[in-house]
Amino acid sequence: MRVSAILLAAGKGERFKSKISKPLVKIGSLSLIAYSLRILSGVSSISEIIVVSNHENKEAVVLEIRKHRIVKVKKIVLGGKLRQDSVYNGLKAVDAAADLVLIHDSARPFIDKKMVLSVIKEADAFGAAIVGVPVKATIKKVTSRMVVAKTIDRSDLWEIQTPQVFRKKLIERAFEKCGRGIATDDAMLVEKLSEPVSVVLGSYNNIKVTTPEDLVIAQAIVKLSKA
Ligand code: CTP
Ligand code: MG
Repeated sequence: MRVSAILLAAGKGERFKSKISKPLVKIGSLSLIAYSLRILSGVSSISEIIVVSNHENKEAVVLEIRKHRIVKVKKIVLGGKLRQDSVYNGLKAVDAAADLVLIHDSARPFIDKKMVLSVIKEADAFGAAIVGVPVKATIKKVTSRMVVAKTIDRSDLWEIQTPQVFRKKLIERAFEKCGRGIATDDAMLVEKLSEPVSVVLGSYNNIKVTTPEDLVIAQAIVKLSKA
């Protein structure tokens, strides 16, 4: 089984409000993108990593890949305006011989090998698999007048993360059919084809670094993992 990984690093990081491009921001001694590069390159079924960057950070991303000697990075492609456009550009660069495509946000540095292996295994058996965690918060629907409309039963609600893994043909068909929709993740495009998507347990540490306060949490996660 051959897996091609698409690692997304082409966002603008607007909400993060940092001078340094978000994938290059350091958490402890490593850049955000280095965490994912190291884990993905350590998975033997992953035969290539395609990094999606933008014009502004491409050079620095290349240096980072060299510095960590990530030889599995076969291509660096430019992203697009929306995350979905960036995934699509990555998808076009995937090796024709790949069976599965793994898509991961570099903004989520705290994946681990066990999680990656389990989502790949599930996608290999099932066609599509994503990681997520049960929702811990109380979720309410609120009207535009800021009045509670209802409380949602959270017992079957999951917060979905990346990596997400799909059979190559399936994710290609999903992108061809559903194009530039309003999907907030890749699995949504597969769901639109009425194809099943399996969910495997991720980790509450697998946060998406989005706003400045997430950096503090990320640093704490790194510290804890070393303790
Ligand atoms: N991403 C991408 N191309 C885009 C938009 C996002 O490759 N056009 C990637 C980001 O680099 C990130 C992931 O998708 O790894 C999730 O996006 P998000 O956390 O929203 O990051 P940014 O889009 O960079 O941040 P913001 O929305 O605050 O600008
Ligand atoms: Mg974004």
